Amino acid sequence: MQTNYFKILIILLIPLFFGCSSNSGNKKETNTSPAIYYTEQYRPQFHFTPEANWMNDPNGMVYYEGEYHLFYQYYPDSTVWGPMHWGHAISKDLVHWEHLPVAIYPDSLGWIFSGSAVADLKNTSGLGTAENPPLVAIYTYHNVMLEKSGSKTPQSQALAFSTDKGRTWTKYANNPVLESPGIPDFRDPKVFWHNETGKWVMILAVQDRVHLYSSPNLISWKFESEFGKGIGAHGGVWECPDLFPLKVEGSDVSKWVMLVNINPGGPNGGSANQYFTGEFDGKKFTPDETNEKWVDWGRDNYAGVTWSNVPETDGRRLFIGWMSNWQYANVVPTTVWRSATTIPRELSLINQDNSYLLVSKPVKEMEVLRGGTTPVYLSAQNISGEKEMSLDSITLSQSELIFDFNLENSSADSLGIVLENNLQEKLVIGYSAKQKQFFVDRRAAGPSTFSKEFAGISKTPYTAGGHLQLRIFVDVASTELFVDGGKLVMTDIVFPSENFTKLKVFSKGGDLLLGKAEFHSLKRIW
Ligand code: FRU
Repeated sequence: MQTNYFKILIILLIPLFFGCSSNSGNKKETNTSPAIYYTEQYRPQFHFTPEANWMNDPNGMVYYEGEYHLFYQYYPDSTVWGPMHWGHAISKDLVHWEHLPVAIYPDSLGWIFSGSAVADLKNTSGLGTAENPPLVAIYTYHNVMLEKSGSKTPQSQALAFSTDKGRTWTKYANNPVLESPGIPDFRDPKVFWHNETGKWVMILAVQDRVHLYSSPNLISWKFESEFGKGIGAHGGVWECPDLFPLKVEGSDVSKWVMLVNINPGGPNGGSANQYFTGEFDGKKFTPDETNEKWVDWGRDNYAGVTWSNVPETDGRRLFIGWMSNWQYANVVPTTVWRSATTIPRELSLINQDNSYLLVSKPVKEMEVLRGGTTPVYLSAQNISGEKEMSLDSITLSQSELIFDFNLENSSADSLGIVLENNLQEKLVIGYSAKQKQFFVDRRAAGPSTFSKEFAGISKTPYTAGGHLQLRIFVDVASTELFVDGGKLVMTDIVFPSENFTKLKVFSKGGDLLLGKAEFHSLKRIW
């Protein structure tokens, strides 16, 4: 009897000593009971968030053997930024995510800052075999000791590899593979295979510009060119670049698109992602235009880059961003975890008014989340003033809302929608026909004392045509607005004290013809 009691006691105590068995990097603060898993206040229901603790940039996105890998800047010991690791998750459909253990840990060379991952299918690095080629992660080491000592070279680029479909990662023995020429901001390598020259290309953020390097094997890198001095936006440091070709829709023309994140200096304050289109010959990027354009005009889409190795049969350029802003990322009022990614988006390029415009659409896989409750379809109706929409069983705080406004037959100066809760906290998303601009107003959307930068109106120049289509994803504490099929995007986080439950459409200065609308509840992914 006594031994049995002893055994039971040991079994009960084991989890206390070793932590609960878990497939995540760290979940000591979360409750994994299915009934309450991922239900804390402000917890997104269909966006990726780590189970616990701090996340920033998405990193190392690569598709391999049926799995989309998502790594991310992660600090497993706190809900604020600190010594960076690469957290890790995988998905088969870009919508449902499985947490995997932390992939890459800091070491004596430094913390593990942002970077990319490639499938080295020809085993050019020799880090796998011809039969079992490696996945190779290329990341930045940030050495705090060097930084504190005033060194001009605290950042360098390094490799880690996996030969088991990304489940375990080994650091390359001769790291780093690329050291700084004496510039402290020297980071965030994005690497891709350039077919025409038969080489790997690395684009790297270097203070106020990018550097381009080439390599036959991911290990030895040759400087090729730089781009960006005096070009585009320069209100802050350049970070997390990307470079990839895109076909211009409806033509045979292919253009190279360069993404360059910048912090601060975004169009509505703080962090944002600018892009350039142009030509790239494997060594040098030549822009079509030298003024900046923005991937997203909202406050909360930063450090976004694209997946590598997406099969040609799929052919999409897939993007994901970090849904926050360095102005307040460390103090937003979530507990347990901090920050989410955006929903994954498909990027495309169109020619508009003799300029190339980057278009972002939610990936089509998002549609699998529809159908939790019966959708609502509304037919044409006139709105003057403010009108509450009938939602039936739609859960507004976890929904997809589609509106088609017939501006040809409207006289309104400004129009839009309001998401509201029972405390009269409201988020307004609207279009001013008079000023030709979109706006997202979160001034009255809930408490914002955590940061004086948070509350405000974001504005974007936009000229609507006769029909204006809005597609909005609402997920508890965020809205992602896609206008006219993704020609304009605004991503904004929001922290209402209670979930939004009321949806209103408004028109000011005249009548508005709402052509049709469609509302879907979206299922949770956890
Ligand atoms: C961008 C960034 C990167 C850096 C990482 C550190 O948000 O500052 O430039 O690698 O975050 O976490």
